[in-house]
Amino acid sequence: MATTPTPSTSEPVTFQRDANVLVVTIDNPPVNALGVDVRRGLVAAIDAAEADSDVAAVLIVGAGRNFIAGADIREFGKTPQPPSLPEVCGRIENCSKPVVAAIHGAALGGGLEIALSAHYRLAVASAKLGLPEVQLGLLPGSGGTQRAPRLIGVKPALELMLSGRHTGAKEALSLGLIDRLGEGTDALPQGLAYAKELVAAKAPVRRTRDAQGLADTEASRAALEAARADTAKKSRGLFSPMKIIEAVEAALTQPFDEGMALERKLFLQCIDSPQRAGLIHAFFAEREVLKAPETKAAKPRPLESAGIVGGGTMGAGIAVAMLDAGMPVTMIERDEPSLARGRAHVEKVYDGLIQKGRMTAEAKAAVMARFSGSTSYDALAKVDIVVEAVFEEMGVKKAVFAELDRVCKPGAVLATNTSYLDIDEIAASISRPADVVGLHFFSPANIMKLLEIVVPGKVSADVVATGFELAKKLKKVPVRAGVCDGFIGNRILAVYRQAADHMMEDGASPYQIDKAVRDFGYPMGPFQVSDLAGGDIGWATRKRKAATRDPKARYVQIADRICERGWFGQKTQRGYYLYPEGARTGTDDPEVLAIIDAERQRAGIATRNFTDDEIMRRYMAAMINEGANVVHQRIALRPLDVDVTFLYGYGFPRHRGGPMKYADTVGLANVLADIREFAKQDPLFWKPSPLLVELVERGADFASLNQSE
Ligand code: 3HC
Ligand code: NAI
Repeated sequence: MATTPTPSTSEPVTFQRDANVLVVTIDNPPVNALGVDVRRGLVAAIDAAEADSDVAAVLIVGAGRNFIAGADIREFGKTPQPPSLPEVCGRIENCSKPVVAAIHGAALGGGLEIALSAHYRLAVASAKLGLPEVQLGLLPGSGGTQRAPRLIGVKPALELMLSGRHTGAKEALSLGLIDRLGEGTDALPQGLAYAKELVAAKAPVRRTRDAQGLADTEASRAALEAARADTAKKSRGLFSPMKIIEAVEAALTQPFDEGMALERKLFLQCIDSPQRAGLIHAFFAEREVLKAPETKAAKPRPLESAGIVGGGTMGAGIAVAMLDAGMPVTMIERDEPSLARGRAHVEKVYDGLIQKGRMTAEAKAAVMARFSGSTSYDALAKVDIVVEAVFEEMGVKKAVFAELDRVCKPGAVLATNTSYLDIDEIAASISRPADVVGLHFFSPANIMKLLEIVVPGKVSADVVATGFELAKKLKKVPVRAGVCDGFIGNRILAVYRQAADHMMEDGASPYQIDKAVRDFGYPMGPFQVSDLAGGDIGWATRKRKAATRDPKARYVQIADRICERGWFGQKTQRGYYLYPEGARTGTDDPEVLAIIDAERQRAGIATRNFTDDEIMRRYMAAMINEGANVVHQRIALRPLDVDVTFLYGYGFPRHRGGPMKYADTVGLANVLADIREFAKQDPLFWKPSPLLVELVERGADFASLNQSE
């Protein structure tokens, strides 16, 4: 650039003149979020442009990988510092000289709202534009709800805001969100050329607030009503989607300034909602889980090719996940028929996609060309990683690992997908325990996002780091877990599932419990989940553990009575619910209620009524208490690791942030008081976790253990 002084790099917003264009650069790593200093800097830049008669136009660009990722999320919930973002946007829009935004990388939320306040917009093809505030429990709060509908029309604007999705620049151009598509990846020179062109053409300032995208009011109203009906059906108790619609309605019915005032009011309501706190906790927690000690200490090993042992439910799902990530996969099965079944399981997934029109036969063939199968372990000699997914029996696992030890190349990562078995014992059974790690996928493994990375005592850090790298490759969310019965997720599940069984025996029906859990925000209740997964799985586990069960511990036999009848859930057309003719949604079964009644009588239970509120208090107290134990014993590094496990593996409602975040919201003293109350009837089951007691005594919460939050 040919002009004015070199900008100071410590300032997050700098500006300098290039001929008669004032180039304003936002440089606020990592993502140019609009923190208070950036907001101040932008106002100062516009002031400078207005004051300098040699400036004919302003260009706003982002330094680094993004234009602007949005408001600084870390500021939410803290005392607001002026100027507010709507003020900054207003200042930009009211500038008397044309303002151009040149976008690369992310222009999201407040970032896009800044761009919408500019008078002209250019984006390079790889840019990502969007209004994702809904995913944080918010609405676009800097004029997005007023400017976007005016610019591109109500229907597409609502769709962007309610989905929160990112659009590419090409689509943004066709929507009218931007004026020009840039070439390559460098936005600055193209933005500069655009600004100079506008100056030369004496282009006027062109304010989005005056745009005419709302012209067809009837169609806009219809779009609004359709969105309202759809959102009422789908948003399941979420607060901000309806507020978005209300704000957009104001764009249709009220002058701009009044619409802005309403948007502000609704935005602040969203900011104050616990859903916003829960969703933003989830946003940071899912980034925080990536920062395990091993990922900081070591580099991952190579990860180009994979082997899978076992082609059943999990092995096939894991194979698909790896194939989808572009890896060549070799599957080992015990005999040819089993191998053929394993291969068929894999193909079935792709055939399903073809049937739905989401994949072509050629694409399937290309993927399957990377898949090979064998009944000989020697086929695994060259692979970088093996995931074992055979029967859940220690003897079988050890035999498999002995083979892996024999054939795999030095440095290959040897992983087990065991649900409950002691991985230290598996590791100790071979000559290279440092290479053994747990990779606990969730079913269906090609779909479920959670991957527990289970860290046995002898494993080397680079093997653990490789687990995290694999998660990244497979687009999964990794959570580091220690070795114990059930790791983080299944261990906690076992406890709150028992609490549900206790309530069922004490007088609540499984249907009431499921409904209370759904009303809390889960997609399904625990008995529906059991019917979906197959009651036989839990039954086998209970039988296996019968010998070691504490005879004094309460044991509800209802599930056994149901399984003894061969009612395993959806696959047998009945479980807790009836699924006539393969229905996916169950209906209540009076015969199950009769079994439950008989079991209550056999156990001598005096039944009582439960309110939905009490059901949830017990369900959550059991989950939180075991979550605290898991953190206390360092099975989970922090409470947030428990939260992410439940958000991604167990359907916990995201807007509540996870069970530990929820506990903080309710107040740990209240949770502990509940546990002590419940303990009066069953002190063996309801033992307060030492960590929970300690935190309550200190007046602290789980968030205080999440360090970098
Ligand atoms: N505020 C504060 N920090 C943010 C942030 C934001 N808006 N967006 C990202 N970060 C942080 C992340 O927490 C992470 O921090 P860490 O390194 O300490 O863990 C760092 O920036 C890098 O983020 P990612 O790991 O996510 O980086 P990626 O390159 O994978 O993704 C991104 C970049 C697509 C911009 C992604 O970070 C993202 O989606 N960010 C959030 C975008 C968003 O929701 N914007 C709307 C904010 S609300 C708003 O604008 C309200 C307004 O309408 C008033
Ligand atoms: P499955 O019974 O569907 O599949 C097991 C497969 O392993 C079968 O195809 C069998 O032929 C094969 N096999 C058995 N012994 C073998 C050997 N010696 N060599 C090669 N192949 C052999 O079982 P599923 O459900 O896939 O479970 C596998 C593992 O994954 C278990 O450890 C289980 O605990 C774990 N897991 C299961 C989950 C689930 O939801 N099903 C979830 C997470 C983990």
